[in-house]
Amino acid sequence: MTVCDYKPGLEGIPATQSSISHVDGQQGILEYRGIRIEDLAQHSTFLETSYLLIWGGLPTKTELEEFEHGIRHHRRLKYRIRDMMKCFPEGGHPMDALQACAAALGLFYSKRALNDPLYIQNAVVRLMAKIPTMVAAFQLMRKGNDPVQPRDDLDYAANFLYMLNEQEPDPLAARIFDICLTLHAEHTINASTFSAMVTASTLTDPYAVVASAVGTLAGPLHGGANEEVIDMLEAIGSVENVRPYIDQCIKEKRRIMGFGHRVYKVKDPRANILQKLAEQLFEKFGTDEYYEIALELEQVVTERLGAKGVYPNVDFYSGLVYRRLGIPTDLFTPVFAIARVAGWLAHWKEQIRENRIFRPTQIYTGSHDQKYVALHERP
Ligand code: SDX
Repeated sequence: MTVCDYKPGLEGIPATQSSISHVDGQQGILEYRGIRIEDLAQHSTFLETSYLLIWGGLPTKTELEEFEHGIRHHRRLKYRIRDMMKCFPEGGHPMDALQACAAALGLFYSKRALNDPLYIQNAVVRLMAKIPTMVAAFQLMRKGNDPVQPRDDLDYAANFLYMLNEQEPDPLAARIFDICLTLHAEHTINASTFSAMVTASTLTDPYAVVASAVGTLAGPLHGGANEEVIDMLEAIGSVENVRPYIDQCIKEKRRIMGFGHRVYKVKDPRANILQKLAEQLFEKFGTDEYYEIALELEQVVTERLGAKGVYPNVDFYSGLVYRRLGIPTDLFTPVFAIARVAGWLAHWKEQIRENRIFRPTQIYTGSHDQKYVALHERP
């Protein structure tokens, strides 16, 4: 092993072979199982796309109905999880609550039967079904309200908005939220998916795998950026302040939230779609005061940093969509997690077939042959 083989953060190093999704960072292309994200956003639903990602192909009508039925059957909140959440501090971040709840699900289904297709199918359905319910329940409980159980007559996306806002969502809002989930479902070997794969490679249970990935997604350089973007737009405060703000960021070499990407060196194709979704919501429900600032920000950052390949990523416009859907800012990343559970489970399923633990090596930079010095002999 030589120093030249070392790549910080494994940048550009293939860590696995996968047929789940493909990104072309130069062309700005994202495909799930070979289907372009633009087509899935326009024609598919999040549950159909999740089935495609996890089981490898578009479902038949019967397969999709069975998958949707399974999700409806398992999505009620477990009372013991509800009771556990009663002990969570109201000021805690919803991503920490979600990580705890995802891990806790493993207490109810602890038998690990990774060779049993039924165990795998049940784990997929239970996690896909229960994650949104737990996110919505924590939101209501930290406001001092009782959680709302899902309704069988509402589909996946509409149910989450119903459980969150305690009222049936507008059909356009529900459809746009469903598209957001599809857009966030999968993205090759990003940090949280890689975290899921490393955890999965030890053949632990899928609940621990998802809990591990949730913790990774929470970071501001990854899934947490969508929340930071809104804070940034609020701090900038006006279109006139955009240029001075960017100048200061560049001067201080500060990362601008919602911009840049390890793979995309053009505008993230998901950002293009999310921007159009935001404009659809603004047309029906009124614009967002931050949208003009966001447009100016995109223009100035592209002008100043486009040469470095720094363009809007998926997190730049998603927050403006979620604000208009009435989703609180600190739930933006849990919403990202609700969607990304599909990708994490797809890679979990693909990874356990490898049956090989992830164990990279290192370049040791410490010393050798040091003597042990007794405590009383130390200065
Ligand atoms: C997600 O991996 C995925 O697929 C993730 C994701 C997914 O779907 O799972 O797409 C979701 O996490 C999107 C990213 C959300 N994070 C942010 O918006 C946080 C801000 N972004 C940056 O922290 C950054 O762009 C990263 C972390 C996303 C990527 O960083 P890299 O690949 O390490 O970028 P780099 O260091 O190679 O950047 C090259 C140059 C550098 O300048 P120089 O040192 O060469 O002069 O571009 C600059 C960087 O300083 N740069 C930025 C910048 N991002 C890169 N400069 C200012 N602001 C930024 N946001």
